[in-house]
Amino acid sequence: MTRLVIEKVNAAFGLIITNWDPAFIGNPQIFSEIKEALAEDPLIIFRGQRQLTDFELIQFASTFGELFNGGELFGVDSTTPEILELSTELDEGGSEKLVSSSTPLPWHTDYCYLPRPSRESFLNAVVVPSTECGTTWFANTYLAYESLSESLKQRIVTLSGLHQLEGSNRHQAAAETRTYRDRRSQKNSNFNYPGNRNPVKHPVAYTHPFHNRTALYINSLTCGFADVDNSESEALLHELFLEAAAPERTYKHVWEENDLLLFDTIGTIHRREAQPLNERRVMRQLSTLI
Ligand SMILES: [Fe+2]
Repeated sequence: MTRLVIEKVNAAFGLIITNWDPAFIGNPQIFSEIKEALAEDPLIIFRGQRQLTDFELIQFASTFGELFNGGELFGVDSTTPEILELSTELDEGGSEKLVSSSTPLPWHTDYCYLPRPSRESFLNAVVVPSTECGTTWFANTYLAYESLSESLKQRIVTLSGLHQLEGSNRHQAAAETRTYRDRRSQKNSNFNYPGNRNPVKHPVAYTHPFHNRTALYINSLTCGFADVDNSESEALLHELFLEAAAPERTYKHVWEENDLLLFDTIGTIHRREAQPLNERRVMRQLSTLI
């Protein structure tokens, strides 16, 4: 019977599996090995397999839970709305054909600005740049929560964070914010880039429903806290954000074609570096819902 070869890829966290095969989709033993690994470590990299078809990708992701229709949220007309396609490709008018893949994204949690945020996310590289750019960074927010002082844990145990897509350039480096603004005009105007939504509440100390580890659920889309006044809120948010994104608990992923990343979206935050416009980058993204 095949068993997965699972190895650590980084000192802080991150696992890599190099003998997974799309033919394993639907195999209950392989699925439980992956779920057990994900309960131990919130980031798994599948590398070396052939590219999955859209159908296989949806089939694999849906074994973890109900999938979110990311394409539908962004208004992308697609027969597979569970797959949000991100691309650098431009049309003749200079607009992006799909959802942007070249702009930098600050530390975030997928769909935390929705009442039912993501529980697991999947990110698959279809076309990768020829040079090292467009890399994705991850931070482990279980480790961030565990590193907090007991008094800070007590302080946040009953707190709810407010999450909103607007203002997502908080904590972004100035150069990245400039790049983001410079490329705003090339966005495809047919898509509804979600924004200006009412903030939603989620626990700051977020306990995963399966394995009960608690994460520090704070990212650059967290705009404050319920029932905490603004002056106190800013200082606390800053302090907690620095913990969530602490460099010693990060992993940098340099993409290879066909890479498939599976990550626990409660226990990680991630960010994307910008990339030059002359480089192609195409990704497929899916998320399960809490
Ligand atoms: Fe994301």
